[in-house]
Amino acid sequence: MEATLDPHGHVLTLTDGAKHLRFHAIWLRDNAQDAETRDPGNGQRLISLRDIPPELYIASARCDGDDLTVCFEPEGKVVKYTVSWLRAHVYDRVTQNTRGWVADDLALWDASICDRVPTGDFAELKQRGDGLAHWLNGAVQYGFAKVENGPVEQGALFQVVDLFGYVRETNYGRHFEVRTEVNPTNLAYTGLGLQAHTDNPYRDPTPSIQVLYCLESTAAGGENMVVDGFACARRLQEENPQYFDVLANHCARFEYAGEADVCLTSRRPLIELAPDGELIGVRFNNRSLSAVTDVPFEKMDVWYAAYRRLGEIIDDPAMEVTFRLDPGEAFIVDNTRVLHARKAYSGTGKRWLQGCYADKDGLWSARNAAARRYRMAAE
Ligand code: FE2
Repeated sequence: MEATLDPHGHVLTLTDGAKHLRFHAIWLRDNAQDAETRDPGNGQRLISLRDIPPELYIASARCDGDDLTVCFEPEGKVVKYTVSWLRAHVYDRVTQNTRGWVADDLALWDASICDRVPTGDFAELKQRGDGLAHWLNGAVQYGFAKVENGPVEQGALFQVVDLFGYVRETNYGRHFEVRTEVNPTNLAYTGLGLQAHTDNPYRDPTPSIQVLYCLESTAAGGENMVVDGFACARRLQEENPQYFDVLANHCARFEYAGEADVCLTSRRPLIELAPDGELIGVRFNNRSLSAVTDVPFEKMDVWYAAYRRLGEIIDDPAMEVTFRLDPGEAFIVDNTRVLHARKAYSGTGKRWLQGCYADKDGLWSARNAAARRYRMAAE
């Protein structure tokens, strides 16, 4: 590996045979890993950009095996990097920018995965070993995961949340009961089947994880069903890019005002993309879609046609994974991606689930920390 500089010292190039990796002086200086720049304990940056002179340049750079030594002027600061760290953080590469791309660690799915649903044993998950790491990984990859063999006791759902994060309390409380009620304030509490949906799109931010825990299930029917919203959005895009674009380019509006003192509203698209086109969220909930007023008049017809087609794809049995939750079983969903539904169940017998919300930053963090633990153990 050889390090060379441009005449101004603004760009450093690492050359390995025919491969060239370029780094800007400002990027290298800002990402110095020395103890004056980053706290050796928590890894947090100790300087801000204003501490780096704007006239910064690299006076010299030398490679020796995996070590790269760079001298920055006018600071006269010498910083050591490892080539392996630079390789792992390279940005001189072809980046994804096709609309609708998804992160490498996600696996989009349809009904064909019904026999390999990510599932964990409650007691094994609580040991926080291999089993939990595997389950967390599955939950991130597929956007949902089941738990089996848990206790049949109220509040057990909080132990599921404890595996990866913290409960997100809402106006529905720290948790909510899902069972037939005589005077339902929300359709989720009746025996009707529900179309697959994401929960609470009227919140901003939306709760990004939902946990549903079964305590009683003697009524016929009432199976749970999940659909990969990202797979549905991508299928819509393949069938009709114009439909995908109109749903991604314009905001819908959602509202829930079904209780006194509650008037939740949000303004977000049904298909949400990052600025570089990454597919980062799907919101779909016919019950709480309010009057859409942010789609231009000329496009409202096509927006509705696209919304209708997305709904048809979501309703297609080829996209859904169905499973029955028995008492002591639970599942979690990434509510920004995976839609859930319940089939209709009869009024005879009982079905009782407890649900709560959490957030997926905790799930990702727990997954990443578990992966790091195993990497360190292997080293
Ligand atoms: Fe729901």
